[in-house]
Amino acid sequence: MNPAILSAFLWHMRYPGSWQLSITLVSSMQTIAGVSEHAAVTSSYIYMMPIYDRKRLIEPQCCSEILSSQGRGANLALIDTRSVNMELVAKYHVETDLSIKKAAEAIAAEQSTGTWTEVRGQDNPLAARVISAESSDVEIGFPEELFEPGNIPQYLSVVAGNLFGLGALKKVRLEDVIFPDKLLRAHNGPRYGIEDARKFLGVFDRPLIGTIVKPKVGLDPAGTAEVAAAAVRGGLDLVKDDETLTDQSFCPLISRLEAVMAALDKVERETGKKAFYALNVTAGADIILERAEQAVDHGANMVMIDVLTAGFSALEQLSKSLKVPVHVHRTMHGAFTRDKGHGISMLFISKLVRMCGGTNLHTGSYMGKMAGETQENDLSRDALRKDWHGYKKVFPVASGGIYPSKVYGNLDGYGIDCIVQAGGGVHGHPDGTTAGARALVQATEAWLKHIPLQEYAKDHKELDTALKYWGY
Ligand code: 3PG
Ligand code: MG
Repeated sequence: MNPAILSAFLWHMRYPGSWQLSITLVSSMQTIAGVSEHAAVTSSYIYMMPIYDRKRLIEPQCCSEILSSQGRGANLALIDTRSVNMELVAKYHVETDLSIKKAAEAIAAEQSTGTWTEVRGQDNPLAARVISAESSDVEIGFPEELFEPGNIPQYLSVVAGNLFGLGALKKVRLEDVIFPDKLLRAHNGPRYGIEDARKFLGVFDRPLIGTIVKPKVGLDPAGTAEVAAAAVRGGLDLVKDDETLTDQSFCPLISRLEAVMAALDKVERETGKKAFYALNVTAGADIILERAEQAVDHGANMVMIDVLTAGFSALEQLSKSLKVPVHVHRTMHGAFTRDKGHGISMLFISKLVRMCGGTNLHTGSYMGKMAGETQENDLSRDALRKDWHGYKKVFPVASGGIYPSKVYGNLDGYGIDCIVQAGGGVHGHPDGTTAGARALVQATEAWLKHIPLQEYAKDHKELDTALKYWGY
């Protein structure tokens, strides 16, 4: 008898009830091209082990010991738990007076089975392990069984929990998380992605261009609608509320929505130009979904959420329940992302937003008023747009302190599949909102045609005025 089959047989005798799973695994592995029967059986054998045995196999030398003691060679890649993706890997940057190894162990213990002292049972299969600890960089592997699939707040309590307050660490920054497939499968990603938004607008060959209604608060519904319509007449694709505007008494949400949608419908009838209006439905857990559903019933074609104040699970609820795209603002992000030694990276926030179903996410600008870092923008952009678990793609949004001369730098960074937004950089134009919108569109055209802005401005008067007013 093949020794692998014999070993598997012995394991199954030891763990009754494991037969059915084994048969399923063996047959599914055998369908994978290039995987021999031998390797398939070996893999099923490893899968079969209860988690405390599986964990032992994480160490490569442990794998070889076990396999050679069984008298057979095997494809080690097939039994490395990371290659079968059964743990979550979190990457941290750590500043500490401890040795980096001790600091890593402290994080692994605090965020899994341990505490500040030894307690009975902490050395159990759910203990996290230190994968690497070098210089200031640490990688921790958390067994997937530590997580409740679908529960984003719970994931955060593990990978971004008490560790931030550990006195032994001077600073710690969560840089990235590699999720196991089991957790990714528990989330749908965007219901509406880049392609869906483009189809709605009928715009396929250029970046989207948007604005934030300004003054940021204080306008009534009619005033908001007037500004929104003026922006779309100038050629913009998206108009959004500012992050602090929700349902205040000076501009009630549903009245504002109805006024803006009526104004945008009128512009569409007259010019054929379609546009999104991202209505900010941010609210507490008790009412956000009801508020958003009511907005869709009253004609909203996009809603907006302040994801870090409302919560990732609120975003996920909106995305699952609503038949409109969701625009995601990252207000409060600076508290997490600004200190490059401590906090949470924008990359990780971007991954969560994509898992939870955002259509557009503010990721920072390559040139603008918000402090940022080119490399971090690149990482967020790629996390939103690369192929990932079959999730639809998300628009990165450049916003904050943008005006025409900042458009080139942002488009060089984000490319065509992005949204460029300006608030002050549209409405502050000396000739008003429609002229400001045209200037932003013209700056985008110049980038698409590879024509220097100043040259393009020679026969585009709104752009010319903007460049003279705000600078080149
Ligand atoms: C936003 O919500 O993105 C900002 O308010 C942008 O506004 P600004 O373009 O006027 O900086
Ligand atoms: Mg704002």
